[in-house]
Amino acid sequence: MPTNWETADILKSPMEICWQFDYEISREKLRNLYSKSKRLQWDAEQDLDWSIEVDPSRPIVSETRNGINQLPLFQSLSSAQRETFVAHATAHQLSQFLHGEQGALMTAAALTHAVPDYEGKLYAATQTMDEARHVEAYDAYIQKLAIIYPISPWLKAVIDDTLQADHWLKIAIGMNMVVEGLALGSFHNMRQSTSCDLLRKLTELVLRDESRHVAFGHLYVAETLSDMHADDREDIAQFAFEVISTIATAIGGADGSGPRKPDPGFLQVLDQVGIDHGDFIRSIIEAGAAGMKAEVPVGQVHSFKDLMMPALVRAGAVTERTRGLFAEAGIPVWDDLRVIESMEDAGSGDLSSEPELPAAN
Ligand SMILES: [Fe+2]
Ligand SMILES: [Fe+2]
Repeated sequence: MPTNWETADILKSPMEICWQFDYEISREKLRNLYSKSKRLQWDAEQDLDWSIEVDPSRPIVSETRNGINQLPLFQSLSSAQRETFVAHATAHQLSQFLHGEQGALMTAAALTHAVPDYEGKLYAATQTMDEARHVEAYDAYIQKLAIIYPISPWLKAVIDDTLQADHWLKIAIGMNMVVEGLALGSFHNMRQSTSCDLLRKLTELVLRDESRHVAFGHLYVAETLSDMHADDREDIAQFAFEVISTIATAIGGADGSGPRKPDPGFLQVLDQVGIDHGDFIRSIIEAGAAGMKAEVPVGQVHSFKDLMMPALVRAGAVTERTRGLFAEAGIPVWDDLRVIESMEDAGSGDLSSEPELPAAN
């Protein structure tokens, strides 16, 4: 079958590609991460039970998993409408997982080209393979659902900026710390809230790999940033701020309680249920005015607070100057590492080790 150019999207990258002829490994921790990645490869075709039936018209997550079920508008829907809404909203979210995984596949490949150290290249190659398996697995699951939504414009913008960055550190920050921090939180929450055994198992396997991807950011980025000239570090820190700020603007602030631009894919979800776009937006504004906040349910992870911001702070990607920018943008510089560290530990072991999250969540 010929390539379908209508669905393709071409970008140009200013990235430098680096050979490395010194095969000495100096970063033992990175070598260990590479070794773990090799040992813990799984195969969606072999390791998941695809005979499990998935009914696309039925919700596969609990409707209490996000604040939307508390909206008065949502409560006025019939039970059939609520089921359709939850089924399509979940398909919308899973579609973002699928498209995001393709983005990660490409950023990991770009890291393989660009990182200047041999062990960095080995590690990035394993991440590239991890992401290929993730794309395959989510695509197979979405085919069972038979509902796919387009990538959200803000997610596309963040991944495009990352793919088109001029330094591999920006790719590692944009993907391994920010987008994968966001994904790690979403995957964790999906695993907890889904009633579908296939999706739970799939997400568990993906989650184990993703925590290694976030750990790579910690091991490699922090060391490289600390050795950089201050001006270059500021350039990287500026990129980190811009990526975070793009996401915060799109999702209604770091805590999700502010105004946001409607996502065109999500508006299609509303169309499926017959909810008027204006009614929905008014309902959100009224709920916000009445003090309803997008609280993260107990035991679930808040990606901004628990993963993305602490990862950036730990790596040294937030400078005194950008702290000022974050403050102006109303984005707290959270730096509590307990959740991210517990998830990274879980990613290095077997699947029986569900991360123990601190009580604060
Ligand atoms: Fe992935
Ligand atoms: Fe990943």
